[in-house]
Amino acid sequence: MAALDDIVRNFPDTDWSATPTERAPTTNVEHLLEGGHVLCFPHLAFALSVQEQRFLTPAVSDGKAKNISLRDDGSLRGASGSAQDQADLRDMIQRFSTQAQHLVNRLFPHYRGKLRAAKASFRPMQVEGRDTSWRKDDTRLHVDAFPSNPVHGVRLLRVFTNLNPAGAPRKWRVGEPFPEFLQRFAPRLTPPVPGSAAVMRALKITKSQRTDYDHYMLQLHDKMKADLAYQKDAPQRDVDFDPGTTWVVFSDQVLHAVMGGQYMMEQTFYLEPTHQLYPHTAPLKVLEDMLGKALLPAA
Ligand code: SIN
Ligand code: FE
Repeated sequence: MAALDDIVRNFPDTDWSATPTERAPTTNVEHLLEGGHVLCFPHLAFALSVQEQRFLTPAVSDGKAKNISLRDDGSLRGASGSAQDQADLRDMIQRFSTQAQHLVNRLFPHYRGKLRAAKASFRPMQVEGRDTSWRKDDTRLHVDAFPSNPVHGVRLLRVFTNLNPAGAPRKWRVGEPFPEFLQRFAPRLTPPVPGSAAVMRALKITKSQRTDYDHYMLQLHDKMKADLAYQKDAPQRDVDFDPGTTWVVFSDQVLHAVMGGQYMMEQTFYLEPTHQLYPHTAPLKVLEDMLGKALLPAA
């Protein structure tokens, strides 16, 4: 399992190739990802065309969403600008999405055909000084879990690339391994109120039924963010990702926070824990073991 001092593993790849090559040598690293490491590629950049460089401004955002996202149904959300701007932005995000898919196919052959590409995003807003509620505040350590989006135990794998043109790093903090974190927080967990999941679904608060797994992951997310002593004193380290760096992480497992930076690409993938190399490392299994009960409804 990833200890804090070697949680980040660096690789020399300079190419997004879907198969191993001289410039893209890294493959078969499922065990590192599942062990809670951040896989880091300091020389794997996402290149913008001269025309695309016009999008390196917060003004490309419609001002409502903090990210511009390309959904898996092909729709673009959160962008301002002309029809041409929006078409060009979509092409840019789509190109990143395709490259990210090539990369994960090479890195994780065991997952081939099993990873589902979800949304991709371009994040043009400056992190520093962003003002938000504590629950949405990603400058606090957290594991990814979303109130309206139950995942039913499915893993969240994310590929990020910093494309800041002025040399600004994406500044993260990463925390202790998930099992150790859970050991600390498990005594504070409370079970869901019976019937609440059905009510939230009927009221469309959630997009699908919130399972017990989703309930506990959201509690962990919230309780960790609300615990200021934990935020300050918990085992953690700072990690700076310079421009031109790509990193890959299970964001439902690695405790993380973003402290600074601007201009980043991101692609999310879903993976059923049964398709992992070591399914027992999934937060679902770790939580079920710790709580001594099944957290998904019987199929
Ligand atoms: C997050 O997933 O918490 C945000 C990551 C980032 O914006 O760098
Ligand atoms: Fe996050």
